[in-house]
Amino acid sequence: MSIHHEASELSTQLTTWRRHLHAHPEVSFQEFETQKYLLDQLESLGLKPYRIGQTGVAVDIGEGSKGVAIRADIDALPIQEESNWPFRSVNDGVMHACGHDGHTAILLGVAKILASRQDQLPGRIRLMFQPAEEKIPGGAKLLIQDGVLDGIDRVLGLHLSSDMPTGTVGAVVGAQTANADSFTIDIEGQGGHGSQPHLSIDPIIVGSELTLAIQSIVSRSMNPRSPVVVTIGTFHSGANFNIIAPRARLTGTVRTFSVEDRRQVRRRLEELVAHISAAHGAHAVLDYVEGYPSVTNSERETSIVREVAARLPGIQSWMDIEPLMAGEDFSYYQEVCPGTFFMLGCRNEEQEAIWPHHHPRFTLDENALPLGVSLLSETALQYLLLP
Ligand code: NI
Repeated sequence: MSIHHEASELSTQLTTWRRHLHAHPEVSFQEFETQKYLLDQLESLGLKPYRIGQTGVAVDIGEGSKGVAIRADIDALPIQEESNWPFRSVNDGVMHACGHDGHTAILLGVAKILASRQDQLPGRIRLMFQPAEEKIPGGAKLLIQDGVLDGIDRVLGLHLSSDMPTGTVGAVVGAQTANADSFTIDIEGQGGHGSQPHLSIDPIIVGSELTLAIQSIVSRSMNPRSPVVVTIGTFHSGANFNIIAPRARLTGTVRTFSVEDRRQVRRRLEELVAHISAAHGAHAVLDYVEGYPSVTNSERETSIVREVAARLPGIQSWMDIEPLMAGEDFSYYQEVCPGTFFMLGCRNEEQEAIWPHHHPRFTLDENALPLGVSLLSETALQYLLLP
C-alpha cells in the first residue's frame, strides 16, 4: 500500500493522538506526561524510543550510513483555553494553542508508517519529539547537545498554519523566520525633586531620546532592501508626579534575517545607548540577548518537499509564502545540517479553524494530519536517496 493510502487510513488514530495531547497540554520544559505518553505509544509500535533533552523523546527507524531527522515540537503555551471542544485542555491555564499537538500526532503517524517499512529503508530516520520550542533558550539546543544529530545528514520539520487553507503547503528558500533577539536598557540617572531639575539627571528624558533615536536604526542605518524590526516594548520609570526618578528601564525586540544585519543593529544600539546617556551625564547599560537564529531552508531539500507535495493527492497547491518575522528554534538543527522547515495549511472555516496561533480559541483542521504524515514520510525517504 502507498504511504498516502496508509496515512489516510490512519486518520482516526491521528485524531485520537492529537485530541489526547490537546486535552493534556504541558508548558515548555515540563512535558513529563507527554514524554511518558510518547514513550508508550512508540513502544506499542514495536520501536525503541529513548528520553533525550530532559523532556524530549527520540527514536530511530532503520539503519545505514545515511541519516535524516524529523522534528516535532511537543510543548504547549501558558494560555487559558476558551473553546468548548470535548477534548479541550484539562490543565488550567495551559493550552496547545500553536498546533504542536498536531505536529506530535503527525510524527507518531510517521513512526507507525516507517516502522512497518523498517527493513526496506535505505538509511536511518530519527524522529525527534522536541520539548520547549516556545521558551528561550529552546529545546533544540538541548537535543543537539545530547547528540540528536549524530549520524544525521539532513533535517526536516513542519509547522501547521491557520493562515493557510488545508491542502496547501509552502516554504521559503533561504531565510523563512527572523533572528529573534531581545534587549534591556537600564538607565541610571539621579533622582530628585520635580521642581529642581537642575539638581538631578532625568532618566525619562534619556529614555525618551533613546526610544526615538532607536527608530533611526531601521530608517538610517540599515539597507532598505532587507527587512528589520526594532521595537521598544516596555518603558518603566518613576513613582510620582513631582519626583524625578533615579532610573528607567526599557525592553525591546530586534528581528533581522541576516547575520550582518543582526550585528549592525546591535552595534548601533550599543552606540546610541552609550552616547545619548553620556550626553546627559547619565549611565546606561545595554543587555542584548540573542534568541533563535533565522530558519534558513536549503534549496535542494526544499525543492524535494515541493515535488513530493505536487504528487500528493489532497494537496491542492504550493504557496510561495513570505518570510515571517517570528522566531523558531528549528534553526539550530539547520546550523548543523541542511534541511527544510515547511508550513502546512490547517485552516478550515467549517471547523472553526480560523483563529490565529497563540489565540485562546486556536484549533486546527484534523484533515491536515494525514497530509503531514505523507509529506514528512515521503520527503524523508527522498532525502535518504540524496548523495
Ligand atoms: Ni509553534
